Amino acid sequence: MVDEAAQALLADARSFWRTRVLLTMVELELFARISERPRSVDDLVEEIGADPRGMRILLDAATGQGWLEKAEERYRLAGSMRAYLSPEGEQCVLPMLEHMAKLWHDWTRLSEIAAPRTQPAWRHDHGRTRSFIGAMHVVSKGRAPELVSAVGPSSERSLLDVGGASGTFTMEFLREVPGMKATLFDLPEVVELARERLDREGLGERVRLVGGDYRHDPMPDGPYELALLSAIIHQNDRRENEELYAKIHEVLAPGGRLIIRDHVLEPDRTAPADGALFAVNMLVATEGGDCYTFDEIRSSLEAAGFRQVRMLQRDERMSGLVEATK
Ligand SMILES: C[S@@+](CC[C@H](N)C(=O)[O-])C[C@H]1O[C@@H](n2cnc3c(N)ncnc32)[C@H](O)[C@@H]1O
Repeated sequence: MVDEAAQALLADARSFWRTRVLLTMVELELFARISERPRSVDDLVEEIGADPRGMRILLDAATGQGWLEKAEERYRLAGSMRAYLSPEGEQCVLPMLEHMAKLWHDWTRLSEIAAPRTQPAWRHDHGRTRSFIGAMHVVSKGRAPELVSAVGPSSERSLLDVGGASGTFTMEFLREVPGMKATLFDLPEVVELARERLDREGLGERVRLVGGDYRHDPMPDGPYELALLSAIIHQNDRRENEELYAKIHEVLAPGGRLIIRDHVLEPDRTAPADGALFAVNMLVATEGGDCYTFDEIRSSLEAAGFRQVRMLQRDERMSGLVEATK
């Protein structure tokens, strides 16, 4: 497991997500508007020219944080927040939040102000991939044993790890199932990072590394008994996921299983709070990424030909597990 001090540092690094959602709610005067009367996303699209995807994800995240309540697709101020977040509230804090929203822009320049001529190497493109993939290993390695035990790969001997990064989950499967071989598919520059790690760990010979783009390239030839999509589907919109599921379905053996590890939202999309907040990360970082409910994931999997779709594990964080069978 990632130990407590490491978890605390990761939580500190991410804590600005919650702050940013709060400040955007303030900058767009959404608390003030919603305190007048409950509003739907469509209302706000019409009133302030909001982007529908952006507004839905933002308001669901704000609801997950307990600032709003959501019922029948309308958002209202949470009862316990009315005194603070309504302009008429007895203890209204909005002016201070507006001040903080202005300070945000100054604080963003802190590195540049402290050292104007320094450009850390990892900010450049190649370094960025390395630090992103390194970060994935840091957050995923503590979750890998639990995932493999929940999946229970008793008889499966061939694994396809799509978007497998530097091999964090692949390595755990190979260690647990001695006769297993794996194919790791990821972007070409990432596959090189996987090669380094797998060779270092003495597992390189049991893994076929294939560089490609899952949006445009076919999956590497199978058949596979097991396929894994860990922390992948949130990067894509529903259509892209459906196409990806269909490609994986093609290379799975009959009876083969696809395991999806990701945030799985409750039907109203505001819980778990971490999942609703992570959707904001996908809003700002991807064209069409999002977090999905179990029903959305199931219907896309079924459209791609999968059967017996079920939740293997629920989780407040990113380790929700969905299993689907060919
Ligand atoms: C969030 S990381 C997840 C890594 C790993 N599966 C895990 O759970 O730790 C997403 C991975 O998908 C890969 N990826 C993103 N877009 C891709 C694409 N179009 N084709 C192939 N891999 C892609 C990234 O390089 C990265 O390794």
